[in-house]
Amino acid sequence: MSRPGADMTGLDGLLARVAETIGTPSYVYVTDAIERRLAELRAHLGPWFAFSYAMKCNPNPELLRWLSGRVDLLDVSSIGEFRLARSAGWAARLASFTGPGKQDFEIDEAIASELGELVVESYREAQIADRMAQRRGRVQDILIRLSPAVVPKGFGDHMAGRPSPFGLDVESSSDDLRRIASLPRLRIVGLHIYSGTQSLKPDAICDNYRIFIECFRSTCELLDLTPEKLVFGSGLGIPYHAGDSGLDLAAVALGIGADLDDLKNDPRFRGTQLILELGRYLVGEAGYFLTRVVSIKESRGTRIGVCDGGMNNHLPASGHFGMVIRRNYQMHRVGGGDGEEKIDLSGPLCTSIDRLATGILLPRLEEGDVVAVHTSGAYGLTASPIHFISHAAPREVMIEGMQMRDVTRQWYLGGGEAEQLLRKENPAA
Ligand SMILES: Cc1ncc(COP(=O)(O)O)c(C=O)c1O
Repeated sequence: MSRPGADMTGLDGLLARVAETIGTPSYVYVTDAIERRLAELRAHLGPWFAFSYAMKCNPNPELLRWLSGRVDLLDVSSIGEFRLARSAGWAARLASFTGPGKQDFEIDEAIASELGELVVESYREAQIADRMAQRRGRVQDILIRLSPAVVPKGFGDHMAGRPSPFGLDVESSSDDLRRIASLPRLRIVGLHIYSGTQSLKPDAICDNYRIFIECFRSTCELLDLTPEKLVFGSGLGIPYHAGDSGLDLAAVALGIGADLDDLKNDPRFRGTQLILELGRYLVGEAGYFLTRVVSIKESRGTRIGVCDGGMNNHLPASGHFGMVIRRNYQMHRVGGGDGEEKIDLSGPLCTSIDRLATGILLPRLEEGDVVAVHTSGAYGLTASPIHFISHAAPREVMIEGMQMRDVTRQWYLGGGEAEQLLRKENPAA
């Protein structure tokens, strides 16, 4: 609830209005912030790259609809995501399909629906795709996913250089590459690497892209491939915690520009479209999670605010999504306030791991106050165990300019129609 005398103009005023009119817990996505981020990406990296949105980070259908036409391409990782994207207006040919556990029916439906590229993660998967393409009378475009042997220091979250379910281990890939290339119903249009994320260090990001370039060059040589596409899993990170500074995109461009120019000047890659595939960097900072303090408790010298949404709505903020050590997300009290006081924030679940903040400094919170958790636009709702303890699902709201729109996904509210969209069977079969 807003405080008397608080500045209710601007973003904070809109967040307060969402909390009052639509309610809490809720996610808010601010499209102006995404627009700005896209403009920065295009200004700094646009000379080399097209951009692909990895929708796993936020598959809200209205957000997807908004992104269609603004972002060049889409990465989906299940047939459910593919169906969602199409029903949100994305053309199938703009989508690529990654994921290490694709099932036959997913591959079949994607091929039958004229998916852009299947990102093949193994020879086994390639064989299935080849069979499905044969059955459908099609030749399917594929990207081969490579798993590099190394990732530079600076990627907290990475999957390279150790046993990995993703893609072909680059150092031992030659037999599988040749076998994939021999499959008659698949056309290799390029290569794909996504080996780490959440780096805030331009040098590490550039070193990582140099590793990609090396892998791309050697693989193209081996296959004698002139690729149409090379996908770089971006690795671009966002500042989640106090003390993190935002990534310097200009430094990334400066650090890697010459290598990308070299690549583009090589006759083999002159016609190649380079694609930066990213999720959090595009939408993460444009999202807020609003939760209301239901009760305040003083316990053994610690002030605790129990909120109406916690780990069930926002798993990453509770520290259980790929973090070794839980650190507080940045947050503020909606409506502002004077002074600061230490408080722990927990969610409504009957488990001690349902924690949103430990010893965070915020203006004094009282029952009914609303807290806005920052950097919540990616891996928020979609990555959270919303059914645990059967609380109502959070709302989702898009703010475009000064307009707010309830864009809550129906199936979180028990809607049968959306549930059907994700049914196992191919509805077109
Ligand atoms: C294949 C692939 N591409 C892109 C992404 C997006 O990553 P991020 O949101 O960290 O940019 C992911 C995330 O897991 C991924 O698996």
